[in-house]
Amino acid sequence: MPTDKITLPLPDDWHLHLRDDAMLAAVLPATARDFGRAIVMPNLKPPVSTVAAAVAYRARIRALLPPASDFQPLMTCYLTDVTTPDELRAGHRDGVFVAAKLYPAGATTNADAGVTSLAKLHRVFETMQTIGLPLLVHGETTDPAVDVFDREAVFIDTLLMPLRRDFPALKIVLEHVTTREGVQFVSEAAGPTAATLTPHHLTINRNAMFERGIRPHMYCLPVAKREAHRAALRAAAVSGNPRFFLGTDSAPHLRAAKEHDCGCAGVFNAPTALACYAQVFAGQGRLDRLVDFASRFGPAFYGLPVNTREITLEACAEAVADDWPTPLGPVCVFVPPGGLRWRRSASP
Ligand code: DOR
Ligand code: ZN
Repeated sequence: MPTDKITLPLPDDWHLHLRDDAMLAAVLPATARDFGRAIVMPNLKPPVSTVAAAVAYRARIRALLPPASDFQPLMTCYLTDVTTPDELRAGHRDGVFVAAKLYPAGATTNADAGVTSLAKLHRVFETMQTIGLPLLVHGETTDPAVDVFDREAVFIDTLLMPLRRDFPALKIVLEHVTTREGVQFVSEAAGPTAATLTPHHLTINRNAMFERGIRPHMYCLPVAKREAHRAALRAAAVSGNPRFFLGTDSAPHLRAAKEHDCGCAGVFNAPTALACYAQVFAGQGRLDRLVDFASRFGPAFYGLPVNTREITLEACAEAVADDWPTPLGPVCVFVPPGGLRWRRSASP
């Protein structure tokens, strides 16, 4: 197969932050252009933690889609200490909730209302296991005594492994995996287990945050780790293992909110994500495996059909990514260090 061009069924984004209101209106076209569906994260303020809130949010997203767009937002429930099994059952039954998201309380942006103890959700996890509703996990411990670069590995050891054992049939996705420990856990776990891999964690290591100065646009959570971890992520992405699939974690924040004395965590990559993934797979000499990673493994895990529309990606001269304009101010678009030499082709 050629190494500078590939046509694949339209990918889906299995982990996306769309925000709300003016920001939603500004960033939605970037994802709707390149993806068929997206799992929409519920970390709004207040969080999307009820069926009614998810129905209303989905309507706001649909109302802002470009005319003739067939993009489908897939909604998630933000788990809190008081989420009830009935709420999840109702949302699942009505075709609203496609998954539920576990944020350890305080772990990241708008996670203050998250879960303070997994023990409180025992009945919720039991219900999710029974009805087949996937649990999407932000896998970081919130113990402030744990080094920020170790928080994913400690979470896996102390919380995720017991959870995996206690609910053997629960579908679990370790979102935005960043460590070799995470890759190993997902590869070896018994039961339905998967992970999403982001464009930024595949293309930067932690040095990128400190390249001749502090680089707030390279800061996200979980934070990028050492090069050895990035190598493990890349190997997992191109491995052909169906447990690893595409999830951008595109998370727009205003440039001003990131270039701040307490800069927000998050990388906005929706406009460049597919080009980044293609560049990574081509760089690994495995462009042939992009189609499974981007278009097939995610639908298989979620029990959904592969998209029928296609998209073509191609190598190009180095591309520039201008700031993404919003009525609130500009948002910096992620470009991997060293530049981007892939793009979406004009056809089909
Ligand atoms: O970097 C991140 N940004 N990580 C998250 O988990 C949340 C996200 C956001 O919502 O900004
Ligand atoms: Zn996220």
